[in-house]
Amino acid sequence: MSTAENDAQIINAEMPDVPLHAPNKINLKDYQKPSFDVETVSLDIKLFEDHAQVDSILKMVRQSAGDIVLFGEDLELLALTMNGEALTAERYEQSAGKLTISDAPDEVTLAIQVRICPQTNTALEGFYMAGSGDDRMFVTQCEPEGFRKITFYPDRPDVLAIFTTRLEADKRYPTLLANGNLVEAGDMIDAPNRHYAIWHDPTNKPSYLFACVVADLDVLTDSYTTSEGREVLLEVYAKSADIDKCDVGMQALKDSMQWDEVNYGRAYDLDRYMIVAVSQFNMGAMENKGLNIFNTACVLSSPETTTDTRSFSVKAIIAHEYFHNWTGNRITCRDWFQLCLKEGFTVYRDQSFSADQQSSAVQRIDDVATLRAHQFAEDAGPLAHPVRPESFVEINNFYTTTVYEKGAEIVRMIANTLGADHFRKGTDEYFRRYDGQAVTVEDFLSALSITNSKVEDFIDWYRQPGTPVVSGHQDYDSATQTLTITLSQQTRHVSGFDAPKPLPIPVATALFDKESGKIMAERMLLLDQATQTFTFEGISAAPVVSLLRDFSAPVQLNYDYQDEDLAFLLKHETNGFNRWQVTQMLVNRILLPNQGTKSDPDVYLAALAQTLPVLASEDAMLAARLLDIPSAQELAAAILKDYDPELVKAQREGLYQQLAEALKDQWEVLYKQLPLQSYEDSAEARGTRALRNVVLDMALTANVEGAGEWAQQQYDNASCMTERFGALKAMVNHQVVNADEYLAEFYERFQADDLVIDLWFSVQASADNVNADVIKSLLEHVDFDWNTPNRVRSVISAFTSQPTALWTQEGLDIYTDVIKKLDDSNPMIASRLLQVLARWNTLAEPRRQMAHVQLLDVQQQVSSKHVHESLNSVLGT
Ligand code: PHE
Ligand code: ZN
Repeated sequence: MSTAENDAQIINAEMPDVPLHAPNKINLKDYQKPSFDVETVSLDIKLFEDHAQVDSILKMVRQSAGDIVLFGEDLELLALTMNGEALTAERYEQSAGKLTISDAPDEVTLAIQVRICPQTNTALEGFYMAGSGDDRMFVTQCEPEGFRKITFYPDRPDVLAIFTTRLEADKRYPTLLANGNLVEAGDMIDAPNRHYAIWHDPTNKPSYLFACVVADLDVLTDSYTTSEGREVLLEVYAKSADIDKCDVGMQALKDSMQWDEVNYGRAYDLDRYMIVAVSQFNMGAMENKGLNIFNTACVLSSPETTTDTRSFSVKAIIAHEYFHNWTGNRITCRDWFQLCLKEGFTVYRDQSFSADQQSSAVQRIDDVATLRAHQFAEDAGPLAHPVRPESFVEINNFYTTTVYEKGAEIVRMIANTLGADHFRKGTDEYFRRYDGQAVTVEDFLSALSITNSKVEDFIDWYRQPGTPVVSGHQDYDSATQTLTITLSQQTRHVSGFDAPKPLPIPVATALFDKESGKIMAERMLLLDQATQTFTFEGISAAPVVSLLRDFSAPVQLNYDYQDEDLAFLLKHETNGFNRWQVTQMLVNRILLPNQGTKSDPDVYLAALAQTLPVLASEDAMLAARLLDIPSAQELAAAILKDYDPELVKAQREGLYQQLAEALKDQWEVLYKQLPLQSYEDSAEARGTRALRNVVLDMALTANVEGAGEWAQQQYDNASCMTERFGALKAMVNHQVVNADEYLAEFYERFQADDLVIDLWFSVQASADNVNADVIKSLLEHVDFDWNTPNRVRSVISAFTSQPTALWTQEGLDIYTDVIKKLDDSNPMIASRLLQVLARWNTLAEPRRQMAHVQLLDVQQQVSSKHVHESLNSVLGT
């Protein structure tokens, strides 16, 4: 480990001080088609000990008047010829990351030679070295604008070309991979220790989907025959120590391939599909054509080392990247403003896939919980932006939960509005019309609207930032037996944007009979005016209305409920998601009284006490979710002013304590009903494990006698990581006497496994009683590594789950030091960490002022355009 530390220092020391980009704003309205198309690209990448040489040949054809514009960053240009003739410096212009050739003929062959240095590329964008020592490997990350760090190229998503890639390297790297099919491989005759491979990708693709890998990896192989009869070779590449953790991912890949055939009529189009696991990666994974590159955390899974939650998300991410093959790759984005075109639709597709692998209610609960905690917070603060932004300085700053998760919600609303058959007709039309093209959100809506023109009205959801608030009430007239529901919508006016318009908001509604608890009527209400009334005839008695079933729109609901109505719905709703939603409404009414009606905790506690025993045996996973109390961060997101982290924490913990005590008699019974079993990967077994962990934590909270021993026994006898880590986490958070010994045992046991050691870091960094000193010592631990984003996140992102510790002078000092440190070496990660501080201005004084001073100080000390853009938004400058 110490060599990794030393390498990290050296790499940091060699980074240039100031990046070469000018902080220009790019606007959607300025979009212009490229003057030249690229027909074919042939790349020859030779990797050497301390650099790489890239030779490329581009065949370009003029489309319209204008210059040839190539982008390039951190490249050393060695040679440039056009149609066989060397171009001297007077024939082109090079500035601000662009190489421009004017007066080019209509058909051009450019030959370009550059030198790059993947060994010192710590930004993990372009061609870079991951790992260190004998484990080092070389991979690419090109989305969104990393290809320009490999060679000069019209690096924009609307330029599609056929790529042929030759890789050449020392034989210590036996694995040479690139997109498409392997054409040829062999030894270098003049250099006996070197070899090469040539790959050809027959599909037209934008440069952001280019990938190559030079490494020493093991491979897990399988195959899949598509509905069209194509036999596809499936390969998952990983370090030899990790290869036994690739089965879950492989199975998920096959399941995804089949799911896309059944649900969207989409079959895979190449003979080979490769996945490569990389330990240093900024994001989760990347959908490069035929050669996905994955963060190890998002592909490796084994019962002993991976929690159920992680393992489930491995499957979802495998599906996500696979689904991109049609939604993203075959049909791609015209420009980066259209990012949600591929991401929103693909997230919707992976959520639907996951909903088929477990209870759809629990899937919806988890997706909505994420949306509320992160996207609603983003939409409520200074980083609010439309799902399709209209301008940016650095596109990397827009891989946000608004683009991804709110983008998915829009597709879901459209799918629900159309109904399954018409939605499928629309998506078939989309694939038929735009296959092989780079398109826009308008194109997407136009294809989906073939059966229903109302779909095009959803465009405003893509344009308008802010979360709509839907409020309403009901009136019942017994004489005419009519129920009238009045709903209105309001969206905050985000500065810099037009005044908000009413959006089309589908509100799935059911009326429940108070006597029988049965559904009297069900209807999808479409709220598309500022205020509207909806009437239901023939309603024999005043019902309880359940709204926004399955979260039919990404809005905040503010309905005139009595606590008793919510308790009634917890009992009688047939929609599992809504049972959870009413528990969350009750909790919010207790904890955030200034947001509306103040609730009496007794109604909530009594309703749960009644529901839990039955539900625990029927659907353990749903039962576990009903005990959710929103995190401190999520509660904070709803507070717009004078946010006091200590107060929120105290109130939250107070309610948690009350809940644990109110149901104290149930914990022992439940815990004993859920004995440890040998590991099984079924929805039911996962539900049992989830509920057992929640019950254990409740029991410890309520001081149930013997609960400390249950935790230790659960740890000692665990059959899988969910059980072991659940026990460890509970022991750490409740400071059970020998929690430290268990932490040490955990470390010893899993020392060789980076992903488990990430868990070890994060359980400490997010502990209820964490403070700045603990974080400091974790950052100084020998296993801490600044160049591995997973490790940085395991401490720093985990720390943000404890706002009382984060929003202190010491906490902010540490947090902003990390940002300053990464600003240079990995600006994308630095900027993402900075964005978490966006809600500083909601803090109560003196914290607000303290945070403000701190952020202004950061502004003086950073240089990346990534962090500057985020800071300017966060500070409102
Ligand atoms: N396109 C990737 C995905 O969502 C995410 C990603 C973006 C990865 C940028 C790397 C860099 O599947
Ligand atoms: Zn994606």
